[in-house]
Amino acid sequence: MTRVVVAKVWEIPPGGRKIVVPFRGRAGIGVFNVNGELYALRNICPHKRGPLCTGELTGHVAAAGPPSAGHADLTVSGEGEVLRCPWHQWPFEIATGRCLVDPKARVKTYPVRKIGNDIVVEFDD
Ligand code: FES
Repeated sequence: MTRVVVAKVWEIPPGGRKIVVPFRGRAGIGVFNVNGELYALRNICPHKRGPLCTGELTGHVAAAGPPSAGHADLTVSGEGEVLRCPWHQWPFEIATGRCLVDPKARVKTYPVRKIGNDIVVEFDD
């Protein structure tokens, strides 16, 4: 297991992110602070290899019914827990790397933790 210091804790406050390049390739990773929890995702979208971690932060969107029902009652929960790829807007759950529109698609995640004032990402060699 290799550990790499990617930031100081004050660089990524809740709601913040840091793109770290290079990190196991030129695309790097995105390190996110979601409500005080840290996550690290590979900065390559599994759809068409877009720069996923530069995308918009959003939440989980749910509809009260199908569009054909004639009402557009949408609710958004967990604001800041979902990342939308900037290229084609596919949404990914930051905590798991799971794609919310294609269950077969998942972005690679890395273990990340605070050690003292450092944020450290781990990976297998
Ligand atoms: S490249 Fe990310 S959604 Fe298409």
